[in-house]
Amino acid sequence: MKSLKGRDLVCTQEWSREELLATLELAEEMQAKRYDPKFTGVLANRTFFMFFYNPSVRTRQSFECAATELGGHAQFLEPKSMRLKTAKTAGETVEDAAKVMARYACGLGIRILEDKIGAYGEGDALIREYARWSEIPVVSMAHDKFHPCQGLADVMGLRRHLGANLKGKKLLQVWGHGALARSWCSVQESILICSRLGMDVTLAHPEGYDLDPAVLDQVKKNCAEHKARFEITHDPREGYEGADVVYSRNWMTPHAYDSGEFDKAGEIEKALALTEWICDAAKMKRTNDALFTHPMPIDRGHEVTDEVASGPRSIIYDVAENRLHVQKAIMALTMA
Ligand code: CP
Repeated sequence: MKSLKGRDLVCTQEWSREELLATLELAEEMQAKRYDPKFTGVLANRTFFMFFYNPSVRTRQSFECAATELGGHAQFLEPKSMRLKTAKTAGETVEDAAKVMARYACGLGIRILEDKIGAYGEGDALIREYARWSEIPVVSMAHDKFHPCQGLADVMGLRRHLGANLKGKKLLQVWGHGALARSWCSVQESILICSRLGMDVTLAHPEGYDLDPAVLDQVKKNCAEHKARFEITHDPREGYEGADVVYSRNWMTPHAYDSGEFDKAGEIEKALALTEWICDAAKMKRTNDALFTHPMPIDRGHEVTDEVASGPRSIIYDVAENRLHVQKAIMALTMA
């Protein structure tokens, strides 16, 4: 495998299977040997910039811990502290900011979600603009389209509980009703990386909650390549039959930006009416004793019941922990 040094990570689909598996294997080794001197100096004296347009619990904390555990430092940045040019204000261009930041740090993470964009795709375009001008690796820390660190953490959790070969296991990616009106990033990343690893994917959501057609086309291609099944259902129960993994998550409709800005209140009102779409114990009984997963934060009582989220088959905290290990592996491979 060619070195990953200097590579950006905007979506796992842009890395080869070999590169993803190498990252997962390194993350698993880093988990097993967390403070081994082999790893604790990998980013000695280096700084990773974390540029957050939106809040976070897991991403900020796990990247800060990752940098510390590799011997480096992670610095928190937000747009209000940077005097950047926007559609409404004069300021510094992305080209200038990216070129300057690359003179200081070993890598740049960016998060831009829901309400910080005016149309689906703008966050993705911004991250790629930083990657274009920056000479250091740019990593998505979740944006409107993808969440690669989450996708890797998800499959690291599945590998631990189901074995390293996920081929033939069935993932149910199911919409959950709720009051958080989420981006498509975690869900799209999950169906891309799981289909890439040979899993059968069932996508279940109410009519009107379609994901990005380009992503769905890619998932179909991934499934065809690995002789895996891909299906979409609009029934809130059917997809649970025979599932090995249930991943519930709310996501917005494709009309969320029709007014030119994110219609959070309208999205929440529509979603809260669809009360049948909750992952509960009765639905989980239809599965193949499935694991329950979710990237968190969870909207308990809407997306999933407490009984399932905190039940014996839930791997939510393992997956949250995995964010630390996969990000350490990504940083070591691309920035050291
Ligand atoms: N899963 C995830 O990215 O969590 P945060 O939004 O808390 O970072």
